Amino acid sequence: MLVEWFKHLTTPCPAPYKAMGYLKELISMEVRQKRCREAWAPHFRECRDLIDKATEGIGHHKVTVLGSGLLLDFSLDLLADTFDKVVLVDILHLPVVQKRVRAFANVELFTNDHTGVAEATWDHVQQGRTGALPSAPPSHLADTGPCGDSDLVVSANLLTQLPLMPLGLLLEKAPTYPEDEAKAFARRIVEDHLHFLSALPSRVCLLTETQRVIFGGPKGDEMIEEIDPLFGVSIPASGRKWVWNIAPRPEINPHIDLRYRMTGIIDLKAATE
Ligand SMILES: C[S@@+](CC[C@H](N)C(=O)[O-])C[C@H]1O[C@@H](n2cnc3c(N)ncnc32)[C@H](O)[C@@H]1O
Repeated sequence: MLVEWFKHLTTPCPAPYKAMGYLKELISMEVRQKRCREAWAPHFRECRDLIDKATEGIGHHKVTVLGSGLLLDFSLDLLADTFDKVVLVDILHLPVVQKRVRAFANVELFTNDHTGVAEATWDHVQQGRTGALPSAPPSHLADTGPCGDSDLVVSANLLTQLPLMPLGLLLEKAPTYPEDEAKAFARRIVEDHLHFLSALPSRVCLLTETQRVIFGGPKGDEMIEEIDPLFGVSIPASGRKWVWNIAPRPEINPHIDLRYRMTGIIDLKAATE
């Protein structure tokens, strides 16, 4: 706890992102992935296997990973061996990631708020504005950045994370927004990412959770609640399915387990046709 607090205090991060919780979330994921190593291993195996398959039958000039985070759900070594160039995109790259990447001559970090609304939402709330919530400027949505000339783009467990911090900020600091409006805002962020991916010329591999399920009962098999992290947006029904045992008890508390239903699509365009 003290180590996490110290890291949060000392890690460089733009103030709005720090206040919104992006840094805290990454630091706590670093700790959780160690604590839950065994429970998370099958999830990482699925992700890595799907990404491996997505590299087949395409050019190997460049791969871009969106939501590269802590480099957990893909093998950086494999991507750096397979592609001439690897670009890792995230809103924040922790020092531990920056250090790891330095060992590779062909891996680059690209820092970008993929939603285009994180800072605008912060400003909106800080200034106590009411009225229409920020939406990503068309120029942001059209800017393919490092994805434009990639052979493969991987959206690596990013889709459902995108609305979390902006929505959390709204719910906490601007609770007067009707729930419908806040949810529509979150939904738009999810839709924007899917539109962005579908407009890319390259192969796109999508890894995402599609449902969060809370289980209780002595054996952990009594469903208590289902939560839709896509806010009603649908993704192609095909693809590989598995369960990510993200918070086995006592991670949240001694009585419940949180599991994510996952989908992995090797080629989003082919799955959409
Ligand atoms: C569940 S983690 C993905 C795990 C990651 N692929 C890994 O292997 O460690 C979600 C990632 O999305 C990033 N993220 C969240 N919101 C973002 C945004 N608006 N723009 C870019 N990245 C964002 C987070 O910083 C985090 O690294």
